[in-house]
Amino acid sequence: MDIEKLISEMTLEEKAGLCSGADSWHLKAVERLDLPAVMVSDGPHGLRKQDEAGDHLGINDSIPAVCFPTAAGTASSFDRELIRRIGNAIGEEAQAENVAVVLGPAANIKRSPLCGRNFEYFSEDPLLSSEMAAAYIQGVQTHHVGTSLKHFAANNQENRRMTASSEVDERTLREIYLASFEGAVKKAQPWTVMCSYNRINGVFASENPRTLTDILRGEWGFEGYVMSDWGAVNDRVAGLRAGLELEMPASGGDNDRLIVEAVRSSALDEAVLDEAVRRILTITKRYLENREPGAVFDRPAHDALARELARECMVLLKNENGLLPLRKEQRVAFIGQFAAAPRFQGGGSSHINASHVTSALEAAKDFGVSYAQGYVTDKDRTDEALLAEAVRAAKEAEVAVVFAGLPDAFESEGYDRTHLHMPDCQNRLISEICAVQKNVVVVLHNGSPVDMPWLDKVGAVLECYLGGQAVGGAAVDLLFGLANPCAKLAETFPKRLEDTPAYLNFPGDGDTVEYREGVYVGYRWYDARKMDVLFPFGYGLSYTTFDYSSLSLDKTSLRDGDTLHVSCKVKNTGSVAGKEIVQLYVRDRTGTVTRPEKELRDFLKVSLEPGEEKTVEMTLDRRAFAYYNVDLADWHVGSGESDILIGASSRDIRLEGTVTMQGNPLPLRVTANTTCGALMRDPRTAAVLNEMVSQTMRNMGGGDDPDTQRMMSQMLENLPLRSLRSFSDGAVDNAAVETLVKKLSDALRC
Ligand code: BGC
Repeated sequence: MDIEKLISEMTLEEKAGLCSGADSWHLKAVERLDLPAVMVSDGPHGLRKQDEAGDHLGINDSIPAVCFPTAAGTASSFDRELIRRIGNAIGEEAQAENVAVVLGPAANIKRSPLCGRNFEYFSEDPLLSSEMAAAYIQGVQTHHVGTSLKHFAANNQENRRMTASSEVDERTLREIYLASFEGAVKKAQPWTVMCSYNRINGVFASENPRTLTDILRGEWGFEGYVMSDWGAVNDRVAGLRAGLELEMPASGGDNDRLIVEAVRSSALDEAVLDEAVRRILTITKRYLENREPGAVFDRPAHDALARELARECMVLLKNENGLLPLRKEQRVAFIGQFAAAPRFQGGGSSHINASHVTSALEAAKDFGVSYAQGYVTDKDRTDEALLAEAVRAAKEAEVAVVFAGLPDAFESEGYDRTHLHMPDCQNRLISEICAVQKNVVVVLHNGSPVDMPWLDKVGAVLECYLGGQAVGGAAVDLLFGLANPCAKLAETFPKRLEDTPAYLNFPGDGDTVEYREGVYVGYRWYDARKMDVLFPFGYGLSYTTFDYSSLSLDKTSLRDGDTLHVSCKVKNTGSVAGKEIVQLYVRDRTGTVTRPEKELRDFLKVSLEPGEEKTVEMTLDRRAFAYYNVDLADWHVGSGESDILIGASSRDIRLEGTVTMQGNPLPLRVTANTTCGALMRDPRTAAVLNEMVSQTMRNMGGGDDPDTQRMMSQMLENLPLRSLRSFSDGAVDNAAVETLVKKLSDALRC
């Protein structure tokens, strides 16, 4: 395909037409030029290809496809390779089904546990989220099928998602919300990016030149095209100008006409339209020229893969007195409708027509478990007969395993939750079972955190999240010890909704959502406030135990731009094989700006046989130590100490080291209102100021007493230059302050 030739042969109308869909899922064809229509389909945790009656709300059925665990679970694996394998399988299915672009992954940050779509999002932490998204993209794109990294950006709630403005300060945007996309774009070059519905500081994401062009293309080097979320376009011409190439779905021709008119009236430069067409065609060409016409995939193999991977995405939250794993000879009762009909995916555009669903009951048929339904999934009210039957079954068993969680209606794309509760009937069921049975295991199916009023009374809790179509098999594998749990939480489980960072500003007032918690999202918030949580970020248990030792840093002092190699040893000290997720956090102590107590900067999953020890190695680059400096409009590294923390979770730091950073000094502009403190910290200005400051301190009556000296120097810290006049006993006048400002400015120039 000769793109330039095509563009030169296309009419203005054809070019405008190519910038919006033909229908819900296809781009337009230009038959007279032999340009075929290509198809896009949701994503992200399996293919939702709709052949007829397309809709973007997951209402109409799609072709059968393998449903993998949703992002809330896959991120808990902290395993790049695992996500790559999922992407790989989905890419294979897409190639076989003639789909050019899979609409995912979704890299939005979990700002509040209430967001209805959190099950589709990876994490509260931008590094983890961007790493997972990058791995997914790499996996899918191996098969010459594109991805659409979505929903760009600051789309963290469903409430008024199409009109709300996310009011986010620049530093927070950069460090948290954009960072989650940045890493994925830079590492994996998604073929497309999908802009979100919302406005970002007042400007619609679909017509935002800063995010779509300056940052995405200019700073991050994105090479693909941007498509709109379905119906996200507000002003089509403004969007095109800002960097939105493709509107989805079809615009009914209206917006195509607006583009044509804008070019004809010279309101829009035709070169902008040509560039958009060029970007769309470049990706279409990449897909078409790498088609694998006879591509097929092995569905049973993908189903088996879904089971294998789901095991690695489930988090063991509690396990007292080795209640788990269960033993084959134990009399076990499975209780709760989710044991027979699991909830394994979320509602909305990601809803898949799963090719085969395995329930835990079916998977455990060889273990001779008994079953009682306990509750009706879609009802919040207790069915007394079902409850009584379940309590009886629990009493007769040696262990009761209650399958519980959130029904479909409790969380979905399109709306947010208003509380963290599970249905009352399920909470009551668990409590009543605890009254007759001391060995109670709770297996949870939910897309985001729930509160657990019964937590103290149960012996074990396994968090399955929405584990994909093989969830039942994977849960049974873990419950009976055929596999060892190895996932950790990619988000904090709070004690109370009132404790959560965005509690006072979620979902905002009217169309305004202020992100007032700033960079203090997730564990950054709970740590800064030293709050107790139900389960911390990065936490998860195993059937074995791990020892950490021998932290080693290849440098003790780092210049701005140096990399730091970190290594430590991890040993499996238990009796079964297991995998441990080693987390590396950096705690900034330079005091340059207020920073979270610590931030995740790398992680690695290591597989260990009993007794085996391995060395884990990670490398930190400049960015691991940097914060976003709004005045510089760039990342900046401060000077001073930073701690390197190796943790088994964000609240279980096992090893600690320290490095000294030699950052670049921040540019200093001297005026009469610059403080002595700021000037004394820069050696160039300190040399000029030293004598005058000592004199002023003497004048202020400092004497030689060290305590008084300390007090005086603390007061000087915040004293602007002009105040030297008031405390110099007449030695410093206005003219002297002016001369001083000049001298200090000169010193900075040398
Ligand atoms: C969702 C997107 C999805 C699109 C197409 C929208 O409602 O926000 O995530 O890809 O529909 O189904």
